[in-house]
Amino acid sequence: MSLGMTNLAYTDEVARATAPIYNMLSDQYDEKYWETLAPFIYEINRLKKEKNAVILAHNYMTPDIFHGVADIVGDSLALAREAAKTDADIIVQCGVHFMAETSKILCMDKKVLIPDMKAGCSLAEGITPADIQLLREKYPGVPIVTYVNTSAAVKAVSDVCCTSGNAVKIINALDADEVLMVPDRYLAQYTQSKTKKIIHSYAGSCMVHERFTADDIRQFRERYPGVVVLAHPECTQEVLQAADYAGSTQQMIDYVEDEKPGRVVLITECSMSDNVAAAHPEMELVRPCQLCPHMKRITLPKILKCLMDEEPEVLVDPALAEKARIPIERMLELS
Ligand code: 13P
Ligand code: SF4
Repeated sequence: MSLGMTNLAYTDEVARATAPIYNMLSDQYDEKYWETLAPFIYEINRLKKEKNAVILAHNYMTPDIFHGVADIVGDSLALAREAAKTDADIIVQCGVHFMAETSKILCMDKKVLIPDMKAGCSLAEGITPADIQLLREKYPGVPIVTYVNTSAAVKAVSDVCCTSGNAVKIINALDADEVLMVPDRYLAQYTQSKTKKIIHSYAGSCMVHERFTADDIRQFRERYPGVVVLAHPECTQEVLQAADYAGSTQQMIDYVEDEKPGRVVLITECSMSDNVAAAHPEMELVRPCQLCPHMKRITLPKILKCLMDEEPEVLVDPALAEKARIPIERMLELS
């Protein structure tokens, strides 16, 4: 296989260099398929060193990306923190557009690339700056806490950002008894269950997490006795009440690593389970599969092409970035 002038053959050198990764991923990919992935992994890892690039990968990336080429992995909060302190010249964001935009806002002097510009998010697409303006008129003086899963334009008219990993902390740290949380109604309901403050919410939702039901969890418990159920706060209240623990993608991974449950189900996007299973072969992961079509736009061939061409590049107008940086930095300080 070739991508332009690049030779993507499965040579002895490629096999040797990628063998430690394959040892980890052999349950996920058969040998024949691995031979098509390994040359991409080899070439991406070579090229990112040559170009002083760093690959930031969200926990929903497939195992070939997550375990094969990522330098930093994590949830939205961890990736934002890492972007703020990297000294690489190029950031390749393996995740969705709002994540790349957040990285760009925090490092305007760096080149931020995303392998597929169309990798969006149902939450980010569900709210505009005009909606925020209407909310300000409806709730005068009430601070607006905006989930990072939003565009730079929406962040720019917000008071502070939050992620699923720090929402409760941020709300409790604000000097206000009432707050407005946008756009995810389920994250707002979850946060309300953890704070005495009054939270007003908006009608946004994640197209992946709202598909899970409490009945799914009942069935998992019946079919897999003793299973520990961890759910993302973008799920409905019924699902979160039926789960044993709720947390961001990284908090779920930390829970699994600290508590070491023998049998676990992660109520979230399915690549998470594949990545945890590869790192913890001793654990039994029940794997309900709900794919995020946006996250799944990111693939090894697209990562390689974007590193080679240094595009598509994520650009943010400097005046807009200056405004959007304020609520993001406020969040990083408060968390
Ligand atoms: P995390 O911040 O928990 O990784 O969530 C991001 C996301 O898009 C979840 O759907
Ligand atoms: Fe957006 Fe949901 Fe996909 Fe996360 S899983 S990127 S919230 S659509």
